[in-house]
This record gives sequence, C-alpha cells and structure tokens, in this order.
Amino acid sequence: MRLLPVTYICVGILTCVATSPITYDDVRGTPYTVGYDHRAITINGVRTMLISGAIHYPRSTPAMWPYIMKMAKNQGLNTVQTYVFWNLHEQKQGILDFTGRANLSAFLQEAANAGLFVNLRIGPYVSAEWTYGGLPVWLNQVPNISFRSSNDAWKRLMRQFILNIVDYVTPYLAKNGGPIIVAQIENEYAGDDRAYVDWCGTLVNNELSSTEIPWIMCNGLSANSTIETCNSCNCLDDGWIDQHRQMYPDKPLMFTENEGWFQQWGQPISIRKTSDVAYSVAEWFAGGGAYHAYYMWHGGNNYGRIAASGVTTLYADDVCLHADGTPNEPKYTQLSRLQHIIADRAEVLLSQDSIRTTIPYWNGKAWANGTSQFVYSYPPSTHFVISQATSPLFVLFRNQNISMNDHSVRIYDDNMTLLWYSADYSDIASNTTELVPVVVGPLDWQTWSESSVKSNLSVISSPNPIGQLNITNDETIYLWYRRNVTLKQASADTILRVQTRIANALLFFLNGQYLGEFDDHNHQAGSAEAFIVLDLSHFNSNQQYLFEILSISFGLFSGVYANTFEQKGIDGNVWLDGQLLLDNTTETNFWNHQKGLIGEYLQIYTEQGSSKVDWDTQWTKGINQPITWFQARFDLDHLIREDKNANPILLDALGLNRGHAFINGNDLGLYWLIQGICENNQPCCCQHAQTNCLKPTQRYYHIPPDWLRPKNNLITIFDDLGAPSPGSVGLVQRVVKSSKINDFFL
Ligand SMILES: *[C@@H]1O[C@H](CO)[C@@H](O)[C@H](O)[C@H]1NC(C)=O
Ligand SMILES: *[C@@H]1O[C@H](CO)[C@@H](O)[C@H](O)[C@H]1NC(C)=O
Ligand SMILES: *[C@@H]1O[C@H](CO)[C@@H](O)[C@H](O)[C@H]1NC(C)=O
Ligand SMILES: *[C@@H]1O[C@H](CO)[C@@H](O)[C@H](O)[C@H]1NC(C)=O
Ligand SMILES: *[C@@H]1O[C@H](CO)[C@@H](O)[C@H](O)[C@H]1NC(C)=O
Ligand SMILES: *[C@@H]1O[C@H](CO)[C@@H](O)[C@H](O)[C@H]1NC(C)=O
Ligand SMILES: *[C@@H]1O[C@H](CO)[C@@H](O)[C@H](O)[C@H]1NC(C)=O
Ligand SMILES: *[C@@H]1O[C@H](CO)[C@@H](O)[C@H](O)[C@H]1NC(C)=O
Ligand SMILES: *[C@@H]1O[C@H](CO)[C@@H](O)[C@H](O)[C@H]1NC(C)=O
Ligand SMILES: *[C@@H]1O[C@H](CO)[C@@H](O)[C@H](O)[C@H]1NC(C)=O
Ligand SMILES: *[C@@H]1O[C@H](CO)[C@@H](O)[C@H](O)[C@H]1NC(C)=O
Repeated sequence: MRLLPVTYICVGILTCVATSPITYDDVRGTPYTVGYDHRAITINGVRTMLISGAIHYPRSTPAMWPYIMKMAKNQGLNTVQTYVFWNLHEQKQGILDFTGRANLSAFLQEAANAGLFVNLRIGPYVSAEWTYGGLPVWLNQVPNISFRSSNDAWKRLMRQFILNIVDYVTPYLAKNGGPIIVAQIENEYAGDDRAYVDWCGTLVNNELSSTEIPWIMCNGLSANSTIETCNSCNCLDDGWIDQHRQMYPDKPLMFTENEGWFQQWGQPISIRKTSDVAYSVAEWFAGGGAYHAYYMWHGGNNYGRIAASGVTTLYADDVCLHADGTPNEPKYTQLSRLQHIIADRAEVLLSQDSIRTTIPYWNGKAWANGTSQFVYSYPPSTHFVISQATSPLFVLFRNQNISMNDHSVRIYDDNMTLLWYSADYSDIASNTTELVPVVVGPLDWQTWSESSVKSNLSVISSPNPIGQLNITNDETIYLWYRRNVTLKQASADTILRVQTRIANALLFFLNGQYLGEFDDHNHQAGSAEAFIVLDLSHFNSNQQYLFEILSISFGLFSGVYANTFEQKGIDGNVWLDGQLLLDNTTETNFWNHQKGLIGEYLQIYTEQGSSKVDWDTQWTKGINQPITWFQARFDLDHLIREDKNANPILLDALGLNRGHAFINGNDLGLYWLIQGICENNQPCCCQHAQTNCLKPTQRYYHIPPDWLRPKNNLITIFDDLGAPSPGSVGLVQRVVKSSKINDFFL
C-alpha cells in the first residue's frame, strides 16, 4: 500500500483505504462511502479513477456474465455501466420480472465477483437503441400521460419504477458493501422542460438520497443535485471539458458514453478507427477526466425483440469486445495498454489539476506556436503530448523533436521514455480468431406452414383497422389483419395503398395466396405509406376473397419524447384499387385482428409445443414459401473447443431470408439477410470507414452457450418472406487461434 499525496478526509465508519487506484476488491463486503470533489469520484474519501465500460445485462445471458466480467477486468476496467430496462422488468403493468436475462441482481453479483464497481443508469428512459427507449408500451394507454415531462401520470409511474429498482438493488449499494457507486436518473434529456429536470433533482435530493451515492444526468439538461456528464466521440475536442469546468467548477469530469456506435439493417458495417478511440480516451484522461466509459464496451445482442426500430440483432459490434464475445483487435489490446497506464498512474493524475501548455510545431522552416499542439503534464511522472492537427507533423517537447500523427497522443514518463502512442499498435495482431465453418449442418429439416391451418384464435373485430400495439401490447411482433374484399376488377397492376408505420413490414395475401410485401427498416418513428402494385390478374372481379395482411413490427424507435405515442401496423386506412376498405355497415366486411402467430401460441419452437403440429419431413416444399416454420435437431458434443464463451457458436443464416430463429425455445432475435448499401457521404458519429458493402448487414447470429446442450438441440426458424436455401443453413464456431498473441491473454 502506498500513501496518496493528496489531502483527503475519511468519512464513514471504516478506516480509509489508500491504495490507488481503488478497486471494488479493496472495499467489497463492508459498507463504504462514495462522494466527489471537483477532480473525481471519491471512495471512502479517496479520489478514484473510474475506468468503465457499458455492458447491458439483457444483451447477454447469465452464463456469459462471469466470462464478460472477467474479460472486462483483465482488459483494465474497474467499473461496469448498465442501463436498467423498464419494459424488460415490467412488461405487464404492476408485475415485475427479474428472471433469466432480467436477473439484475445476479449481474450485479457477477460484477462484484470480478472486482468491478457498477454505475447503474436507471433512467427509466434509456434510449439505448432498445425498443421504445425502455418504456413499456402500456404507458401509451395511461390517461393524460405525457412522457419525460412535468406530467403527473408520468412522474408518478417513473418515480414508482425508480423506487422499485432502488429497493431491489439496495443490498448492492456501496453503503451495504455492494458494487454500486454511481446511479443515473433520466437520460440525454434534450427537451426544455426545466421544471421536470428540477423534479428529477428533487427526487435525487429527497427520496433517493438514502442511496448515499452520487447521481448523474448525461448529455442534456441536468439538475443541480446531479453531476452532468458527457456523451460524445471526444469530450475534449468538442469543448465539453472547458464548458463543464466553467459551469460546474465543483464537479468532476465524467464521460459516460464514448460512442462505439451500432449497426442498422440495410446499412454497411461502419467502423471507428482504433487510433481515433485511443486518441479520444487518452485526451480525456489528459484533460482531467476521472471517469470514462466506452459505450459499449461489449454490445452483445438484441435477442428476442428488444432492438429499437431498424437496429440489427448484434449490437455495437465494433467495440472492445465483439458482440459474439471475442476480443476486437487491435482495439481491445491497444486500449487495454492505455487503461493499465492510467490505472498505474491514477494517484499522480488525481493528485493535481490538469494544466495545458502549448508546445511548438515544425512548420517546415522553424518551430511555430499554434493552438493544436500541447502537453498536459502531471509531475513528476506523466506527460501527455497531444496533436489535434488533421495531418502528421513534428512537435518540440523537452528539446525533443517528436513525430505526431494526425489526432494523436503520446504518453511519456519523466525520463522521456515513451509509454504509449495512440497511433501505433502495429505489434497487435488483429487476426486472433477464425471461423470454423459448419460445425453443424446441413440440417435435417421438417417444415410447417403458418397459413396451412385455419386458426381458432380469438379475433377482435372492427370496421376500421386498429393500431397494432393497442392489440398486441407489444407481446408479439406479429398481427394478422383479415377482411373480406370484393374485387372491382382483377388487373395485373392493382395498386394497394396502406397507411402504416416506419420500421414495419406488411405481407399481403388473397385467399391464402401470397401477393407481395412492403417493408421499412429505418431507425426512426412515425408514419409511412405503403404503395405496392399487386398482380391480381388470376383472380376474378366481383368475387369476394379473404384479404389478409400480416404486420411485423421491427421494434419501436428509442427516441421518446413528451406526447410521442408510437404505434405499429396499420395506422389509418387501406385502399385496394382505389377502394377504401372501410365499411361500418356490414359485419362480414369488418377487419378481424389476430394477435400473434399460431406457432407462437402453440410454442412449436419448444419441446412441449413441437408435437402440437404435424411437421412435414419433405422440407424442400418449404423453400421460398412465405410464413413457413422449419425445425431440426442437432448435436454439439463433437466441438473442438468446448468453451463457448471464448469460442462462440453462431448461426450462419445465409440461405434464409427474414424472420426469427429459436434454439431450444429461446428467441435469437430478428435475422435478416438484407444487404448493406454503402453511401458516398461518410456516416455520422465517430465512424471512419464503411465495410461489407453489398453483403448481408448481419450474416452470423450469436447463440448464448446456456441455450445449448451437448445433444438433441432443437432449432426452429420462422421465415416470413420465404427462405431460398434452408439447406445451406448451419452453425459455425469462432475460435481463438493462439493463446499468446496479444497482451490480454498473458
Ligand atoms: C437470480 O440469480 C440468482 C443467482 O443465480 C438466483 O439465486 C435467483 O433465484 C435469481 N432470481 C430470479 C428471480 O430468478
Ligand atoms: C390505441 O392507443 C392509442 C394510444 O397509443 C390511443 O390513443 C387510442 O385511443 C387507442 N385506440 C384504440 C382503438 O383503443
Ligand atoms: C385527464 O385530463 C382531463 C382534462 O384535464 C381531466 O378532466 C381528466 O380527469 C383527466 N383524467 C385523469 C385520469 O387524470
Ligand atoms: C440550481 O442552481 C442555479 C444556480 O445556482 C439556481 O439559479 C437554481 O435556482 C437552482 N435550481 C434549483 C431547482 O435549485
Ligand atoms: C512562441 O511562444 C513562446 C512562449 O510564449 C515565445 O517565447 C516564442 O517567441 C514564440 N515563438 C514564436 C515563433 O512566435
Ligand atoms: C524534426 O524532425 C523531422 C524529421 O526528421 C525533420 O524534418 C525536421 O527538420 C526536424 N526539426 C528540427 C528542428 O530538427
Ligand atoms: C528515470 O531515470 C532515472 C535515472 O536513470 C531513474 O533513477 C528513474 O527511475 C527513472 N524514472 C523512471 C520513471 O523511469
Ligand atoms: C496474422 O496475420 C499476420 C500478418 O498478416 C500473419 O503474419 C500471421 O501469421 C497471422 N497469424 C495467424 C495466427 O494467422
Ligand atoms: C383452439 O383449438 C384447440 C384444439 O382444438 C384448443 O385446445 C384451444 O383451446 C383452442 N383455442 C382457442 C383460442 O379457442
Ligand atoms: C367473410 O364473409 C363470410 C361470409 O361471406 C364470413 O363467413 C366471414 O366470417 C367473413 N370473414 C371476415 C374476415 O370477416
Ligand atoms: C358509419 O360511418 C358514417 C361515416 O363516418 C357515419 O355517418 C355513420 O353513422 C356510421 N354508421 C354506423 C352504423 O356506425
């Protein structure tokens, strides 16, 4: 143990801990205090460097949590950050669920076991590219509610949820010896309802003060009783640090989201350069940052139906730990090295304020003074030499002529020994894993058609089509709209017009025959209009047919503001050949609504449910057939690498089209082989390259190890558009090639 060269007060019942940096291992199991001063969060009165990363518990599974936590700790984190997801825990109003992937206490325990602190971002509005930003859709039906504003109904329900969560996590709070040291209320509040923000602050000051930890608000309006934090690609370069220092001189600098970004259906894979992440993290600590979190550190996967509109099933893949759990090199190791340097020097860094001194650069003829080259020195041992210039140049520091790449940071010790350079990671191998093709496959499918049976499921009847969420409460993404129509004419170019929503698909059928589809997969909310041309030439005019629309929701947009009530399905009217399909006089012409698929009701993707339908072993009949289920069994006891956390099993979905895949009853999430279209203009937000053009946005889908067993696994697919080549679908394994390639394995 070393003594800190800082003055610190010891509050609380316990003796002061003076190691630096403090980790949860130093305080676990016994009550400790958390506070802050202008420089850092303090643990038992001692300034503590918090090196953090976001890991969302429902985006992995309980069996993966210990592995992910261990990797996070090894890579150099001492804190994990997670949101809490209201619509996961309270899908039905008043019924709280903390089982399985929603077992937050087990997740907190795994963080604690790994020696990690926790920053719990309760929200309960969280955004997070999570469906409806975390809000339960039953809120839509609460009378007079207006979200995230000074609205009595909202405030009452928000307060109740936060109190429920705080009550649930109480054993895990610092004051009870648990890992939670910081909490968050609201999230990225971009509105202008100051009274609502102050109400959040009052809640923190009053009822939530019993948590005895600091509360933060990020990237928007913040309440006086909370610490405002930064979400960005670079909180020094964008001026946030200077602004924060001016506005809140007594509050520390906290970077809650250094953005790794995420993927959307139909888009290419955009990647953020390792050198850019490295530059931004190093600049942050140089400029006085005392909490830094990667958003995400591990994105995981949107299993089931938790993805927000248009967001792929793998989430934030291009971050330290890939969505499938393997290290993303060279990012993983380059940032690990930085984090270990920061942790080793935390004591020196936190004992003083950051001071910026400009240094000269070589203009080709002479050393010139600019504003983009500077050093942050932390005597006696640490110097950050920085160039914000957009091209490489030379700088002069301590009589040394130093080469700097564009946007780069070098860290030196007092003897001018280079400890780390953001732009150089040429020694870090990036090819540390490889895909072992086809560990399972081809599969011996059987098939069953959703449309081949008459459903006896209850229906809701109405003259006009009803919004999907009113009927489904978002408990399924599927809704059947059915109605009798009499064709005026049977032409080859009949125009169908449907008022629908963004991030929604509609499949059209006449007397059970598939006619075509419409889809929108934008990461947005709002109305959309489907105009499609149907070939009805083989039907007869003046004859009555059963017209069916299968509506499929691709998630609800995560941006939710006051008075936004997202809807799905048919949002207005339907016109077929100019004929408005609305008739409030004849009940045989009403719209019938059936919530969900028959296969869902019977749970034919489970062991018990599978036998409830007659599977056809001649599965080739199912090729290219819309709304078709496929099922097969497979063994996994022949795997070369048994550790399926480090060597994950993936579904290779090439050969399918769009739908959901289930393994032993568990929903892997939406798969879609839609291609990524590259655009000329650079995409927004920290991204520097587009890859994978004209290839499926997502071909491989991660299967959590706890959903698999050695023998007799049940795989079930529901493909809504029709799978062109189910025979080529299989499972692959990503294996780590060498155990000694990069630092983190040592
Ligand atoms: C959460 O996980 C813990 C540890 O595995 C277990 O004891 C507990 O029963 C789980 N809670 C629920 C609600 O399933
Ligand atoms: C459907 O829900 C919306 C709120 O999202 C509500 O305004 C509307 O009245 C509901 N419609 C029906 C038919 O229940
Ligand atoms: C909703 O607002 C209206 C108009 O202000 C009011 O009359 C009504 O009582 C409110 N309903 C509820 C349930 O608060
Ligand atoms: C917050 O602080 C500002 C500046 O000190 C003050 O003007 C304002 O009244 C405070 N707000 C509340 C709700 O305390
Ligand atoms: C750069 O700044 C230093 C310190 O302010 C000063 O001594 C020096 O003359 C300046 N050099 C030039 C080229 O302006
Ligand atoms: C700094 O180094 C570069 C590259 O070697 C060189 O071009 C430049 O002249 C040097 N500047 C001085 C002042 O030595
Ligand atoms: C710097 O060099 C001196 C003399 O060689 C040595 O004693 C000291 O340990 C070095 N400091 C660091 C930080 O390496
Ligand atoms: C990784 O790539 C490097 C350079 O391309 C190559 O030399 C090395 O053999 C590869 N390593 C493995 C394990 O394939
Ligand atoms: C549909 O029929 C099955 C078997 O005939 C029966 O078990 C089930 O309860 C029925 N479902 C409904 C919603 O009536
Ligand atoms: C269509 O009309 C027939 C009678 O012609 C009726 O039996 C049936 O229920 C109607 N279908 C719907 C969806 O209303
Ligand atoms: C049917 O709709 C029309 C137009 O909205 C309305 O005038 C009429 O009263 C409605 N009839 C019934 C039976 O609801």
